Amino acid sequence: MKLLIKGGRVIDPASGKDKKGNVYIEDGKVKSHPADTKKIEGEKGAQVIDARGKIVAPGLIDIHVHLREPGFEHKETIRTGCESAAAGGFTSIVCMPNTNPINDNASVTEYIMLKARTEGIVNVFPIGAITKGEKGETLAQIGEMYEAGCVGISDDGMPVMNSKVMRHAMEYVKAFGIPVLTHAEDKNLSGHGVMNEGDTSTLLGLGGIPSASEDVMVSRDITLAELTGTHLHICHVSTAGSVRLIRAAKKRGVNVTAEAAPHHFTLTDRAVAEYDTNAKMNPPLRREEDRLALIEGLKDGTIDVIATDHAPHSEDEKKVEFDLAPFGIVGLETSLPLSLKLVEDGILTLPGMIEKMTSIPSRILNLGRGTLEAGAPADVVIFDADAPVKIDRTKFRSKSKNTPFNGWDLKGRVLYTIVGGKVVYSA
Ligand code: DOR
Repeated sequence: MKLLIKGGRVIDPASGKDKKGNVYIEDGKVKSHPADTKKIEGEKGAQVIDARGKIVAPGLIDIHVHLREPGFEHKETIRTGCESAAAGGFTSIVCMPNTNPINDNASVTEYIMLKARTEGIVNVFPIGAITKGEKGETLAQIGEMYEAGCVGISDDGMPVMNSKVMRHAMEYVKAFGIPVLTHAEDKNLSGHGVMNEGDTSTLLGLGGIPSASEDVMVSRDITLAELTGTHLHICHVSTAGSVRLIRAAKKRGVNVTAEAAPHHFTLTDRAVAEYDTNAKMNPPLRREEDRLALIEGLKDGTIDVIATDHAPHSEDEKKVEFDLAPFGIVGLETSLPLSLKLVEDGILTLPGMIEKMTSIPSRILNLGRGTLEAGAPADVVIFDADAPVKIDRTKFRSKSKNTPFNGWDLKGRVLYTIVGGKVVYSA
């Protein structure tokens, strides 16, 4: 299989290259890109994609996705989650363990890997649970899950409340060189809260989740990462306090990285005003001060990665009273245009944004992807950064449509998604 992507602006932050020209792909690998001067003979007879005026970048990588299979196939399956990813320009996704059964042992990991190989159209990397059943009590079979293909451990959605258990997990996982990904939340402080604690929750009469419930756990987990030396990755950062804590920890040399989700850097808790359950997620949408702190963190590198926390839920589950609806929104098909807004607003450069969605997430989880260097797997996205798009949830490839961005006018259209040299999505 030969593929020639012609004449695009090729941006490869991993190698610092940003140049107009061709990318040539053969046998699932990048053979050459515009910075290579040598002429490649094999280009003759290749399938050609005209990318003039378009951006050619490493396929996007999302390190925070809920695929729901096994157990919740009415929300999403590995197949539909992969199709949604491809439509959003993602070539690799990392899936969280809160399935049913929970991915806390090698047989579940193997099931996910097998399904992904046979039915998935993008690369799928599983995260194993930290504790058995995500109950926060005893460690899961971390070594076996690592052997079976898990690239990190997390009890996402269910924070490990017992600090001693978290310490043991951090100490144990060091042997495998994979990170602990933390959903930082003090469940006792959150109580029965369903949105950010503040003026809006008071006005709406809804239970609040204080920022402190995230901040205290970020602080604890940083302290434990400092104690153990383990790589800690903090998921879906939502508060100004967390950004401050992570910035200070990085300055001290703590082995910590962090991600922010497009909904947190785009919206505030005002989006809940109409009791829209599609604006309900955990951590919740916060205040404008928090949103601005995230933007500052993205800008200065405190926040390393943009990740979606793609959390599909069915229409029936979401169409209930706000208090009863599950937390979470889909994100794979809105992430690129929402992130491009950061570029339009002068917050990130285009290569800077691409880096946070390709080479940095790859490095954090050691995925060996996220670059267009010769010899790399031919995972590529081609997009038009200026093309207007209207978010239309009825067109989502995801099985679930729970987005607060329906009807939004944005820019950034994915034209092709290529995995291992094969076109898996074309607009
Ligand atoms: O909003 C969320 N949804 N936050 C989480 O931590 C879990 C996720 C889910 O699984 O639905």
